[in-house]
Amino acid sequence: MSISSNYIFEVTSDPAAIKQSFINNSESFNLPNRNLASVTDYVNGELAINDSDICQRRSPTISIQGQVFYVVRDTSITLAEGDFTSDIVASCCTLTRDGYVKSPTFGLKNIPVSCYAFVYTKPDQRRKGVAAFMLNEVNRHMEREIPDGISVLYSDVGEYYSRFGFESRHVPLALLLVAAILQTPSVEGGKIITHMQGQFKDLFILDDRILVERLNSSLTEAPYKISVSLKPDSAIQELFASRSTWKYSKSKSINQALEDLIFGISVTDEATGQVLGFVTFSHYWNAKVMSVTRLFISPSAEKAGTAKTIFVQLVQNLAVLAEKLEFDTIKLWHSEIDETKHKAIWDWIDELPNSDINLANTSLSAINFHSGFKAKYDVEGPDVKWEMNGKWCWY
Ligand SMILES: CC(C)(COP(=O)(O)OP(=O)(O)OC[C@H]1O[C@@H](n2cnc3c(N)ncnc32)[C@H](O)[C@@H]1OP(=O)(O)O)[C@@H](O)C(=O)NCCC(=O)NCCS
Repeated sequence: MSISSNYIFEVTSDPAAIKQSFINNSESFNLPNRNLASVTDYVNGELAINDSDICQRRSPTISIQGQVFYVVRDTSITLAEGDFTSDIVASCCTLTRDGYVKSPTFGLKNIPVSCYAFVYTKPDQRRKGVAAFMLNEVNRHMEREIPDGISVLYSDVGEYYSRFGFESRHVPLALLLVAAILQTPSVEGGKIITHMQGQFKDLFILDDRILVERLNSSLTEAPYKISVSLKPDSAIQELFASRSTWKYSKSKSINQALEDLIFGISVTDEATGQVLGFVTFSHYWNAKVMSVTRLFISPSAEKAGTAKTIFVQLVQNLAVLAEKLEFDTIKLWHSEIDETKHKAIWDWIDELPNSDINLANTSLSAINFHSGFKAKYDVEGPDVKWEMNGKWCWY
């Protein structure tokens, strides 16, 4: 579709343009079920999140590290004096983070991974190719800035993004009923530690170390030729926790002190203090759903044959927290638990009354391999395995 020459694309760091983008997109992303008091609350919440470490992180080598904003302006709109933003008709942003690629030729390398988010066109401007114009421009920007990187996104609009090079990598969901978990016989695999904001660092350092060891020591299994993954990073869990806390502070429905909010649980070896497993999560306050952002079981627990015990202990403790908040459900991405390695865990979940597995996720994971990446590693999309494609990859 060709688009009128009235439209111009900008990469912007202008606070007024960024704010206007959130004001515009509040119509879609500040849904009533998110229980926010006003557009101002939503906008302030997202602006506060933009101040978080992972969004503000900069790199000496990659110009677009952190969160970057893009807008489309319609130059046919006449602006009143002092108004510099009413001509913004579409917007989106990207969060660029560190990732890995493992190939037989190059071994393990760091790569940048960009997550596209908040893609939005004003309702009166839709179906004219405005988002397509913007996304093609953002893609071009990506190709220039991180040619040998990859981009990911979670689509709420089905296969729309496939025309911009994004290939769906759907991950099903499991929904575990809190009440059912609380009925299961309690197990003990180690000591429980809870984690609040600012207390996730060691967990993700461990997760990262184990991922690197695994990628270094194993060959990517056929039919894939190479593997990619985002780098486990506590800063993304800090972002989820900030957003949860912000939304909670605007929600009057639950009676628990903000400073008591817990966003992670780990099980450690009583004697050595070694982490045997952990779960991190965020809250959907109105839906009463606890969403698992990352679930890790250590190789030592796997070796000792206690993986299921560690998992059940984590989930039982999470259910206790969920019950205190009057939440009904725990949402888990299938990718968090390897289905061939941990059949016993999946059997346990499957046997939980009224719990569901293999549910279609309404958000589709998708991945786009930049042209320099494909050329360097000599691959097409189907050749690439996306390791640990889960909730923690987006924001
Ligand atoms: C999705 C969106 C950004 C598209 O903007 P746009 O400027 O109209 O996009 P384009 O003109 O380039 O393309 C329009 C096409 O988008 C696709 N599309 C739009 N909404 C869709 C949906 N809910 N499901 C599947 N495809 C959708 C359709 O193919 C549509 O063409 P058609 O209506 O003629 O079939 C816009 O509809 C929007 O802002 N929606 C609300 C916010 C949102 O859901 N954003 C996506 C978050 S992942």
